[in-house]
Amino acid sequence: MSAAQDAPAESRDRSPTGQSSPTGPAGSGSADSRTPVLSARGMVKTFGRVVGLDGVDLDLYPGEVLAIIGDNGAGKSTLIKCLSGAYTLDSGELTLDGEPVTFRVPQDAREAGIETVYQTLAVIPALDIASNLYLAREERRTGLLGSVLGMRDRASQSVQGLGIQTIQNMGQAVETLSGGQRQAVAVARAAAFGSKVVILDEPTAALGVKESTAVLEMIKQLRDKGLPVILISHNMPHVWEVADRIHIQRLARRVAVITPQSHSMNDGVAIMTGAMTVDGNDSNKETAA
Ligand SMILES: Nc1ncnc2c1ncn2[C@@H]1O[C@H](COP(=O)(O)OP(=O)(O)O)[C@@H](O)[C@H]1O
Ligand SMILES: [Mg+2]
Repeated sequence: MSAAQDAPAESRDRSPTGQSSPTGPAGSGSADSRTPVLSARGMVKTFGRVVGLDGVDLDLYPGEVLAIIGDNGAGKSTLIKCLSGAYTLDSGELTLDGEPVTFRVPQDAREAGIETVYQTLAVIPALDIASNLYLAREERRTGLLGSVLGMRDRASQSVQGLGIQTIQNMGQAVETLSGGQRQAVAVARAAAFGSKVVILDEPTAALGVKESTAVLEMIKQLRDKGLPVILISHNMPHVWEVADRIHIQRLARRVAVITPQSHSMNDGVAIMTGAMTVDGNDSNKETAA
């Protein structure tokens, strides 16, 4: 087992505002000494007789993009739903910044700073962009004209801050946007409110090449701001382009943690399908180091 597999990549250039330590344990070969932002141990989630998660561990370090790959039914969506409070765990422990946390409903995770964009986009087509960005937020309840204008200003800032230049008017209804622009709104919302972690489930699945590129750029910008991102994707080139580390799910388990440097895309697919195994990475077999 290579040490690179469990240590977050530190070789990449970071912006000066990034939270990653420039003197991190890059390539030192030792286990990472920093506290993961989000950490899970022994996650189990069953649906009757179906096992969605079978003792899964996960670590997300500051300022990294952690990709989660795996075949259909491997437990990727179940995993992130357990991290975002959409599902409650049967057993297992979560820590956020080293503190134990329990998420019973999505609001618990949101209040703790974890924002999730689910596979099925949660935007409301008839509402405008600003309203979508502030969906279910405090600002919406006031309903006064002044606060609506303030919302549009802030929405505009967060969208522009993420470089979605194609969106001109925050008052534009989301139903008039392209798939990529809608996805961008959903990601911008997560980026604006996710103070600790942003989780994206298949954000480029329905997008064209140009739109995908824009979403990938947003992911890189989040990472460069120091905000860690969990990215679920079936698109291997996208994963190998943006991920610092890659968590591989297979049959409800984490079977490997690799990096784009340690393994090729073909290796990744082979591990996903069980054609290749990586010793020591199955969380179910892992013993304390
Ligand atoms: N709400 C649910 N009810 C019953 N079974 C579920 C539910 N959610 C997921 N599963 C099952 O759990 C397993 C993992 O599913 P999922 O996490 O959606 O996989 P992935 O996102 O990797 O395709 C599958 O066998 C799926 O059928
Ligand atoms: Mg899924």
